[in-house]
Amino acid sequence: MTPPSIPWRPLSQPRFLIGICHFPEQEPREHLASDAALMAEAGIETVRMGEFAWSVLEPEEGRYDFSLFDEAIAELAGQGIDTIFCTPTATPPRWLTHRHPDMLRVDQNGVAQRHGSRQHVDITHPLFREHSRRITRALADHYRSNPHVIGWQTDNELNTHFSESHSAVAQDAFRGWLVARYGNIDALNAAWGTVFWNRQYDDFAQVETPVTNRPASADPSHLLDYRRFLADMTRDFQSEQVAILRAANPAWFVFHNIGRLNDIDLRDFGTGLDFLGTDLYPGLRDEFMKVGLGYAQAMQLDSFRGWAGNFIVPELQLGAGAHPAFAIPAPEPGELGRFAFSSVARGADGLIWFRWTSARYGAEAYWMGALDHDRVPRRRYAELKQTISELKAVRDEVLGTSVDIDVAILGADWTNEIAQATFSLGLPSLAELALPLHHHCYLRNIRCGFAAPGDDLSRVKIAFVPHLALWDDRWTAPLSRFVGAGGILVIGARTATRTANNHVATETPPGPLAELCGVRVSEFGRLPALGASSILSGAVFQVENVKSGRMAESARREQFVDFGGEPVQAAHGYEILEPAEGVEVLARWNARFLAGEPAVTRRRLGAGSVIYVGTYLTHPLVARLFEPLFAETGVRPPMALPAGVELTTRSGPETILTFLQNTTDEARTVETPDGAIDLPPFGSTILRARAGHAGK
Ligand code: GAL
Repeated sequence: MTPPSIPWRPLSQPRFLIGICHFPEQEPREHLASDAALMAEAGIETVRMGEFAWSVLEPEEGRYDFSLFDEAIAELAGQGIDTIFCTPTATPPRWLTHRHPDMLRVDQNGVAQRHGSRQHVDITHPLFREHSRRITRALADHYRSNPHVIGWQTDNELNTHFSESHSAVAQDAFRGWLVARYGNIDALNAAWGTVFWNRQYDDFAQVETPVTNRPASADPSHLLDYRRFLADMTRDFQSEQVAILRAANPAWFVFHNIGRLNDIDLRDFGTGLDFLGTDLYPGLRDEFMKVGLGYAQAMQLDSFRGWAGNFIVPELQLGAGAHPAFAIPAPEPGELGRFAFSSVARGADGLIWFRWTSARYGAEAYWMGALDHDRVPRRRYAELKQTISELKAVRDEVLGTSVDIDVAILGADWTNEIAQATFSLGLPSLAELALPLHHHCYLRNIRCGFAAPGDDLSRVKIAFVPHLALWDDRWTAPLSRFVGAGGILVIGARTATRTANNHVATETPPGPLAELCGVRVSEFGRLPALGASSILSGAVFQVENVKSGRMAESARREQFVDFGGEPVQAAHGYEILEPAEGVEVLARWNARFLAGEPAVTRRRLGAGSVIYVGTYLTHPLVARLFEPLFAETGVRPPMALPAGVELTTRSGPETILTFLQNTTDEARTVETPDGAIDLPPFGSTILRARAGHAGK
């Protein structure tokens, strides 16, 4: 049997991990025994440790002291708790950076980072790489036959704070990478189009990393290659550690905890790992995005699953948190459990909470753990214990199942995401451009997730291509088959308009997709801005931002496309479409010189259809365009749900598990086909059905 494509891939682990992050080096040694006992009482089975403890493990170069961790691991093992150890390379010790200041990362302005926080060292530095391998090997050798160390996390949230480097060694590494990619300088000049603005190089030795201190905009092809280089370096840095760990003990699992996807090509990065983790702080995400805790979580997890398949959450928010410049609120009573079950509902096959004790010093002194600062276990500890016992009752059924989606956003393509950032045309990121569709589905409880355009879409009814400008020809045939088999493929503006080198293509858009779509784009331009931009930009049309006057009035009208007399808000850009014969026009532009020009078309093909949208999505456009498609394809939530209740399903060969989560602080009642279910504030429940059968 061929394995499922990544978004539907469960973890191939025998056990659903239930754990907590702990920092024995931040606690007095005499707490080891009582901590282990209290953890066991809460039902914790695994502890993750070591990621910031290099100086404790190796107080001076070549002198190792693992005694604290040996003791901690033994104490935990005495309570039946296993350990996941981490390579400690996110915080290289002061003795190393003091001796080798050239290891420090150098920023865009040529300024070296100073020692004193984390991620301060350049992972391209050959000597640092040697030290990374050395400490990894020392730890791997030491713990290879310790039965209580069950697996490893590499580093910690690689690139979360800072991914670039412009140091002398990084420049050399970049040049080496370019030589390997292009072979000769003429090929590089052609690929980057250096004749533009007279940037031709005579030799690879003249090429530098792209920096901001230049008078005008940088070259997008140069930028794209730099980001590809950073992603390759990040992957290679990790691969060295993985190889050492695997050689020491092939039974260990190895994963990484992703923080932010900065210069990490996740599908490539994840290939050498057993699984991937995404650190989940709904409060933190909401703090910066203001989309609500439920949606902040759904957005992160649905998107991550598209890149990684099922995953673990190696850090799950347990309490309030703070850094000197911000503080996020504590989960309300019951919400800790809701964070946990919503994670499982969206693909988590293991949960590890952050953190056991509350930090007392350092940059996260108010980051709250299961125990309060006075070490008294109160509400968070009690809720953790309760959640773990509920989780244990269902975890065996959950393993081996995957999250079902009817609507796939084909946005899990790193090259396109990065290329968009190098030349965005002033548009938001591809991920943001797809959010009106994801958010609409979230509010309607329609099962929507992310995938890559080359994935097997046989489980999906509707697929949306979110403006992927760099088209890979290998994607066309499977997508045509998807349509032939009855799928509805919706293609967004500007798809297939650039070459692999990030140049604008000379074929009439959408180039290699023109035939499939039955449409050609004769003109493209930006629409006036919609007003305030937020993570859901395009979702809200802020009329008050449009000043009065003829231009403003027409600008406002120009945002609309007309579906048979019904004006619907569009966003960001317009394309004028020339449909081929037999292709239906669903909507036309409605103002100024665009008036009457085709904006949205539909080609019926085989059992399915291809819809081309010559603009970008807004909430009203999603509602007008996709709701009829949902009706046509039978995509609907299986039951009516009150506001604030989420529904998702996970299926395995024999069962379908339906997860219901109340994301609100009020009780809710759900009328299921088998009767009413009362969900307390933040309450969750799981309904079971045999695969292929409806109902409970
Ligand atoms: C994560 C990080 C942890 C801790 C946590 C709370 O991003 O991996 O080490 O910093 O955030 O801020």
